[in-house]
Amino acid sequence: MAEERDVFIEMRGVHQRFGRNHVLRGVDLDVYRGETMALLGGSGGGKSVLIKHMVGLLRPIKGTVKVDGEDITNLPERKLGPVRKKISMMFQGGALFDSLNVAQNVAFPLREAGVKDEKEIIRRVEEALEIVRLPGQLAKMPADLSGGMRKRVALARAVVEKPCCVLYDEPHAGLDPVTGDTIDHLIKDLQVEHDITNIVITHELRSVFRIADRVVFMKEGRIYWDGSPEAFRTSEDPEIRNFVEGSSGTRWEDR
Ligand SMILES: Nc1ncnc2c1ncn2[C@@H]1O[C@H](COP(=O)(O)OP(=O)(O)OP(=O)(O)O)[C@@H](O)[C@H]1O
Ligand SMILES: [Mg+2]
Repeated sequence: MAEERDVFIEMRGVHQRFGRNHVLRGVDLDVYRGETMALLGGSGGGKSVLIKHMVGLLRPIKGTVKVDGEDITNLPERKLGPVRKKISMMFQGGALFDSLNVAQNVAFPLREAGVKDEKEIIRRVEEALEIVRLPGQLAKMPADLSGGMRKRVALARAVVEKPCCVLYDEPHAGLDPVTGDTIDHLIKDLQVEHDITNIVITHELRSVFRIADRVVFMKEGRIYWDGSPEAFRTSEDPEIRNFVEGSSGTRWEDR
């Protein structure tokens, strides 16, 4: 008998289209509480679009999305606050506010959520910077940080509200392999030490094999393959082979 697993995000028959571009064509996906899931697939295949449905930044034209048992498919924007407190997102590119220092960047979601107590804000910002191993960098401006540090500040901002799930859109892009490894350690630490469910979009297979408990591969707007990293690595499916062999040796963004 299959083991009962605790589903945190449930997507059923999700479709999305932009004009004539039918990007999602019936996505069925369960994300289990506490896992690190790698979301893979060709460029432009709809990975970023898919995860935006998990926090209501995009609404399906058909199908349903449930988070922690609650149907959020048509939840009005003003009621999405609690969902976005549970699931935070590290956007593709990291996107810090250049005119705000590190502390102000990390504090941003707290202020948005209406936290007013300055002591509390500073305490939580320091705690988040501690988690990403950047203590004492509060006053630095983003322009004075390395690419890897900027990514870590973006990660601190993603965890400052103590989410139970974090979505990472290409957290390794633009980083050298060593700095990428640091990000992997942080992602895994969040899962192991802070019980966070991780969904990681990446083209870095090295990271996938290091941190993922499960691999989900998208193709033509659907989930094409779903299984363990080991099964993914040794799969004989021609699509998967193509992806694995095409990515090995070279980093996607260097090609
Ligand atoms: N807001 C939008 N309006 C119109 N088209 C969009 C929008 N967002 C995404 N698309 C289109 O949807 C398709 C899927 O985009 P998406 O960003 O999800 O791809 P991806 O799998 O994340 O690719 P990559 O690996 O390059 O990041 C693309 O054709 C893109 O141009
Ligand atoms: Mg993307």
